[in-house]
Amino acid sequence: MARLALVTGGQRGIGAAISEQLQKAGRKVVASYAGNDEAAAAFTARTGIPTIKFDVSDFDACKAAVAKIEAEHGPVEILVNNAGITRDGTMKRMDRGMWDAVIDTNLGSCFNLAKLVWDGMSARKFGRIVNIGSINGQAGQYGQVNYAAAKSGIHGFTKALAQEGARVNITVNAIAPGYVDTEMVRAVPEDVLQKIIARIPVGRLGHAEDIARGVCFLTADDADFITGSTLSINGGQHMY
Ligand SMILES: NC(=O)c1ccc[n+]([C@@H]2O[C@H](COP(=O)([O-])OP(=O)(O)OC[C@H]3O[C@@H](n4cnc5c(N)ncnc54)[C@H](OP(=O)(O)O)[C@@H]3O)[C@@H](O)[C@H]2O)c1
Repeated sequence: MARLALVTGGQRGIGAAISEQLQKAGRKVVASYAGNDEAAAAFTARTGIPTIKFDVSDFDACKAAVAKIEAEHGPVEILVNNAGITRDGTMKRMDRGMWDAVIDTNLGSCFNLAKLVWDGMSARKFGRIVNIGSINGQAGQYGQVNYAAAKSGIHGFTKALAQEGARVNITVNAIAPGYVDTEMVRAVPEDVLQKIIARIPVGRLGHAEDIARGVCFLTADDADFITGSTLSINGGQHMY
């Protein structure tokens, strides 16, 4: 039986590439999303991968969604915590709402979903969890105290949870992407983007597929000795 992977934010951007590569690797995949019904419908039509809409920052919504997914498709054996947002601003401009939204969506979601699949994974003695962090959680970034804190938190969360999962064959790893050509990065002003690209040694933005390749590697059945690690995929921009 193919193992079931849940990819949050899995119907567009980096998440879509992750869902598709996991499908190609022989996994059954369910992709979640927040509200972009159009992208979800187009993604399912193109790939055959089912989608489910819920807010990853809301524990009760996650609980209902995981129950529905498991009833319809079987137990979640691979969890990719990919959904994320930015609400950038310097400290002067950042308000409490921008802070909470980014912490709850990027970091709180990792707790919510790992918590909900943890007991099942422990009982079955198999689990693969990958949390998508960021180069900006490793290095910090001007105007992103919320995002850098959330992503940095993901790296700590990963290392702590990996210790709890090790004895029951649940691996927990993180990927720290550099700048990847998705809508999130297309929102960056062009002049700023050109300056960023100039600082990437390989001379280009990442592709979503570059990140997806790392997820497939970390979630393979025989990747059981790789846990608690953060895989940087950033074109050499930051060597951590
Ligand atoms: N792009 C980069 O350069 C880069 C670099 C480092 C790290 N990352 C990280 O990689 C991940 C994916 O980034 P991306 O660039 O692919 O982002 P993206 O294109 O903006 O897509 C974000 C995805 O997350 C979903 N999402 C957002 N808020 C959600 C919520 N509250 N509940 C459920 N789903 C939610 C979105 O659903 P809808 O489509 O319904 O809105 C969408 O599927 C994020 O964690 C991001 O921080 C990205």
